[in-house]
Amino acid sequence: MQKKDIIVLGIETSCDETSVAVIKNGRDVLSNIIDTQIKIHEQFGGVVPEIASRNHIEAISRVTKVALEEANIKFEDIDVIAPTYGPGLVGALLVGVSYGRGLAYALNKPLVGVNHLEGHIAANYITHRDLEPPFLCMLTSGGNTQIVYVKNYCDMEVLGKTRDDAIGEAFDKVARVIGLTYPGGPKIDKLAQEGQPSIDFPKTHFENLDFSFSGIKTAVINLHHKNPEINKADLCLSFEKAVTEELIDNIKKAINQTGIKKIVLAGGVSANTHIRSEFEKLGESLNLKIYKPDLKLCTDNAAMIGCAGYYRFLNGDISENTLNAVPNLKIGE
Ligand code: KG4
Repeated sequence: MQKKDIIVLGIETSCDETSVAVIKNGRDVLSNIIDTQIKIHEQFGGVVPEIASRNHIEAISRVTKVALEEANIKFEDIDVIAPTYGPGLVGALLVGVSYGRGLAYALNKPLVGVNHLEGHIAANYITHRDLEPPFLCMLTSGGNTQIVYVKNYCDMEVLGKTRDDAIGEAFDKVARVIGLTYPGGPKIDKLAQEGQPSIDFPKTHFENLDFSFSGIKTAVINLHHKNPEINKADLCLSFEKAVTEELIDNIKKAINQTGIKKIVLAGGVSANTHIRSEFEKLGESLNLKIYKPDLKLCTDNAAMIGCAGYYRFLNGDISENTLNAVPNLKIGE
């Protein structure tokens, strides 16, 4: 008998995107509906946790209905329910986790809680059908910056991480101070394309593979305060150049340490034009294979969660129906 396809319903509500996706056999995206709250949070200059939770509650059933319609399937056709259970905002996570638990109970289907960071990495399995572990992942998002050694689909080790701000946080804070709206990363990206990298910012160096972005963030903000007339495009590109050099220095150390020459970018900040192009150049100069997620899969979406959930399901990692949100969930837990 032909093996049946495995249909996973991915659910993502860790921050300000309510997203539901239908994924077939891990890498085929039948639907990926993303309902973003950016317009709602823009007026506050960042995500307001309680408002995010309330909006997830309002959106989740509607978004799920559209995801099923677009995939042309019914609830009964789903094999696995895979909500993000961390890391993220606790109230926001609880909406997706509770909804997933309810569905899994009502449909009598397995529940597989997904680590959001594994989801970001998995976005690359959807973009690159041939990609398989092992590889090194440069994970750069709004809440995290880490180098992850992906040994297998469900076996990962964090080799280095930020000691303070995540890189996306630094982008968003710099953007806010120079007058760009939330989320600032994409706006800095656009403005930087008109700039010159004329300002030298100090880089942080640690013996190990850790990062720090609060010093550079403060240096950029102080310079802008001292000299409000400074060319913002130059400021943006110089900032991008400094943080990208820090990423590249550490990824080179990770390559030396592990001998792995397959590099994968992941997370919202991996959409950045300068970072993508500098990693391409690094790949050419060191003969590395560089994988970048599709732009639409860089930021939060449920397709990547469904994909990560599929590999967790194959690994036998079924959650209890008491699954709870874990706001500080780490890779490897
Ligand atoms: O991965 P993500 O959607 O959320 C987390 O899981 O944290 O990342 C959001 C972050 C925000 O800080 C946003 O400003 C940043 O990704 N971002 C960018 C770009 N697009 C999104 N940063 C720099 N350049 C971009 N093009």
